[in-house]
Amino acid sequence: MRLHGKIGIVTAAASGMGRAGALRFAREGAAVAVVDRDAAGAQAVVAEITGAGGRAIALAGDLRDDAFAREIVARTVREWGGLDFVWNHVGHPGPAAIEGLDLADFELAMDLNVRTVLVTTIAALPELRARGGGALLFTASTSGLTGSQFSPVYNVAKFGIVGLVHGLAKRYAREGLRVNAVCPGPTDTPMLRVFVARPDSQLPLGETPESLVKKRGGQIPMGRPAQAEEVANAALFLISDEASYITGVALPVDGGATA
Ligand SMILES: NC(=O)c1ccc[n+]([C@@H]2O[C@H](COP(=O)([O-])OP(=O)(O)OC[C@H]3O[C@@H](n4cnc5c(N)ncnc54)[C@H](O)[C@@H]3O)[C@@H](O)[C@H]2O)c1
Repeated sequence: MRLHGKIGIVTAAASGMGRAGALRFAREGAAVAVVDRDAAGAQAVVAEITGAGGRAIALAGDLRDDAFAREIVARTVREWGGLDFVWNHVGHPGPAAIEGLDLADFELAMDLNVRTVLVTTIAALPELRARGGGALLFTASTSGLTGSQFSPVYNVAKFGIVGLVHGLAKRYAREGLRVNAVCPGPTDTPMLRVFVARPDSQLPLGETPESLVKKRGGQIPMGRPAQAEEVANAALFLISDEASYITGVALPVDGGATA
């Protein structure tokens, strides 16, 4: 088992890639705190893990609440006595607009992609350092590596996450604390439907979210969006000791899109 005896947190874990990661990490021997504002969804993931003999707890709440974003670390440590990894996966598509941008939409995107992630990370750092290392993983995006004409505000947020990864990786490298990001391209989860059909992106006439998802997939060299499990596999590798000499990396998981 690749995460035998490890203790970790996955945010936004009731759905999509976070859910796939939580299930996979638990199968690989980790005890996993499943964090999401969807309490029933988080509980269902926990039931799936514990039903298969694994260890998991559900921590339900809104990560925009700073106290909750911190508390998930304390509650995980209280439950299992330490912390070895955090996958800061929560995020938000943000607005499509730039001219006429409503700054409240900008703030929501920054809150969910950057602020809450930073708050959880600040709380997690002393716990990870106390164990003599560990792994911090972030979810950026191909939009953290290349510009997107559809999502300039999302670019601001996800380039910011990649910058955070670079800075933290160098800061903590000597302590054996590794810091990396996965950068998914379009991935077949509920959020992809939100992305392609944002209210301010003017859905082209005759298109539906599903037809747009298919179109976006067709533009990728591999001809399809990622499956959540394919991103979770990359996350597992970066968290595991197999990546012991890898830090500061923003790994595209994108079917060749940024090649
Ligand atoms: N799906 C894609 O195409 C894609 C591509 C690149 C990057 N990403 C990034 O992946 C992450 C989202 O992943 P997904 O596609 O697996 O999403 P998803 O839609 O499958 O799941 C998102 C989860 O986040 C939870 N959530 C949302 N707001 C929350 C809050 N305030 N507090 C607590 N939980 C909250 C939801 O309840 C849901 O369970 C984001 O960081 C996103 O920017 C997604």
